[in-house]
Amino acid sequence: MYRTVFITGGDRGLGFALCAGLLEQGWEVFAGQYLPEWPDLTTLAGQYPHALHIIPLDVSSVESARSAAQAVTAFTDHIDVLINNAGVISPTISRSIREPQDYAEMHRLYDVNALGPLRVVEAFLPLTDRSSKKRLCFVSSEAGSIARAEHTCWYSYCMSKSALNMGIKILFNHLHPEEYTFRVYHPGWIRSYMSGKKSLEATLEPEEAAAKAIPIFLSQRQDEDRLRLEDYEGNEWPW
Ligand SMILES: NC(=O)c1ccc[n+]([C@@H]2O[C@H](COP(=O)([O-])OP(=O)(O)OC[C@H]3O[C@@H](n4cnc5c(N)ncnc54)[C@H](OP(=O)(O)O)[C@@H]3O)[C@@H](O)[C@H]2O)c1
Repeated sequence: MYRTVFITGGDRGLGFALCAGLLEQGWEVFAGQYLPEWPDLTTLAGQYPHALHIIPLDVSSVESARSAAQAVTAFTDHIDVLINNAGVISPTISRSIREPQDYAEMHRLYDVNALGPLRVVEAFLPLTDRSSKKRLCFVSSEAGSIARAEHTCWYSYCMSKSALNMGIKILFNHLHPEEYTFRVYHPGWIRSYMSGKKSLEATLEPEEAAAKAIPIFLSQRQDEDRLRLEDYEGNEWPW
């Protein structure tokens, strides 16, 4: 039985629901905390004082990623499943090309959404290398699919997720021969906090989205040789 999982962006939204769902299933959960002032993780730690570890993590910082991996070593020498969940959008995302683009925000989204998971994988490799499971999960998005792109704006978010997908493919080429397995996942339209406050119009509560994601993140498959982008309904997306 594989037991230890690290989840980035664990404070709220899908990340928090993944933490709660995996704790319920008996996992030892390391939750990356970006928002110390948000109380939900602390409340959850009260329920699971031995199984939940709150670890400060800003995925846009190499030092923070390294410190997070170091902090985990106080509790365990291995991480079985690493879930790269943290992600951001921007209030200026819906500007069309006929409006001035917000390039500073574009850099921020690329830094968090595309480079953040790379920083985390790099920092955590010594811990995942020691696991017999070696599962790397990435919360990407349908927005990263070039073949099915229909947006007429949202440049930074869509481009950051396409870049993430390419980064994952390169990681796969390198690490799959070293017995790593991968999940690249679109979680659906979630009533989460990406706009800064809870979305009321999306279709899935974070708990529902986590209940769909967890079986896919933990699944065993025969065809691990093929990297796929898949969604919460089991559909495969073209890259
Ligand atoms: N919501 C959707 O409909 C949807 C659809 C497709 C894919 N996704 C993807 O699903 C993932 C989870 O998003 P969500 O919907 O649950 O959004 P969310 O509620 O905003 O949760 C994301 C979490 O990551 C945190 N975070 C932001 N910047 C970070 C950083 N630099 N380092 C570490 N953590 C950071 C966020 O903090 P702040 O709240 O302070 O930003 C938040 O706690 C993201 O990768 C997103 O792109 C979401």
